[in-house]
Amino acid sequence: MLTPVRWRGGVLEILDQTELPWKEVWRELRHWEEVAEAIRTMRVRGAPLIGIVAAYGLVLAVWGHRPGRERDARFREAFEELGETRPTAVNLFRALERLRKVFERHKDGPDLHDLLLAEARAIHREEVEACRAMGRLGATLLPDGATVVTICNTGALATGGYGTALGVIRAAREMGKLSLVYPLETRPRLQGARLTAWELLQEGIPFRLIADSAAGWLLARERIDAVLVGADRIARNGDTANKIGTYTLAVLARRHGVPFYVVAPTSTIDPNLTSGEGIPIEERDEGEVLAPYGMKFAPDGATAWNPAFDVTPAELITAIITERGILRPPFSESVGSVLQ
Ligand code: MRU
Repeated sequence: MLTPVRWRGGVLEILDQTELPWKEVWRELRHWEEVAEAIRTMRVRGAPLIGIVAAYGLVLAVWGHRPGRERDARFREAFEELGETRPTAVNLFRALERLRKVFERHKDGPDLHDLLLAEARAIHREEVEACRAMGRLGATLLPDGATVVTICNTGALATGGYGTALGVIRAAREMGKLSLVYPLETRPRLQGARLTAWELLQEGIPFRLIADSAAGWLLARERIDAVLVGADRIARNGDTANKIGTYTLAVLARRHGVPFYVVAPTSTIDPNLTSGEGIPIEERDEGEVLAPYGMKFAPDGATAWNPAFDVTPAELITAIITERGILRPPFSESVGSVLQ
């Protein structure tokens, strides 16, 4: 199974997603600052993967350093800076917090490095296990011969292995239930066109890519059995932040009577937020819209607004598929029931 990160004795290897699908470039990261850069520039991306990589980043911050005030200051600096790389995916903050707890408990002991590494590995393993469980559960919701729509990339590349919404698609395919996937190309970073198409091709899963603006016409014209999306942060009432364009898809799904499923591990639920209003929405550089991947479409002097995520209100969501069960409305009750 594809995993986009590997830990090799003090070196974090990442598959650089800004190079895909044109080139498969593995980069070796030796310093936490390189990890922060990789998250900020989206060499690694996707909510669970950002958390996993940030956790390894904190391991790198202390790796090879002797106990003492200097090492502890490095850890705290890395903790702060990694937390400032991308604001929306709550997995990042939850993973950093897990590592901070291990650090505070064991910083004066002899095994700190090993314990931090074990925690980072555990986060990675748990995310992949959650994906497999969600895949199994989610696939039961689909009819035989299902045709589904998805957005962004929610596969192994986004999660450390298998995938969330794409994990359900993979599982449905394994069960022989899947007929066709329509991935949205997902402007401006084109995660659907570049990354989801790349993963689907590798798996031999049949798909037809569509422009984001074709989604409404597709839902109006074709029999679509489900819209499946991932999430970057879910509030306690079920409001869900995900890739920009997800809200549009949810409105369209409701208009056409198509079930709209969010597929996300419980690590994506923010226990501190009662509604989506408090979710910080990342706004990225306007250059990503004006000249995606250096291809300049807009004339000189044009400006752009580039929110990376939107929030889908809970009322538009049919169910949230987590590794601990399928949650149904009212979400203010069901979401709380899977929080430990
Ligand atoms: O900006 P990205 O590519 O990091 O955004 C990713 C998404 O929005 C995914 O849908 C989300 O992280 C869930 S994927 C497991």
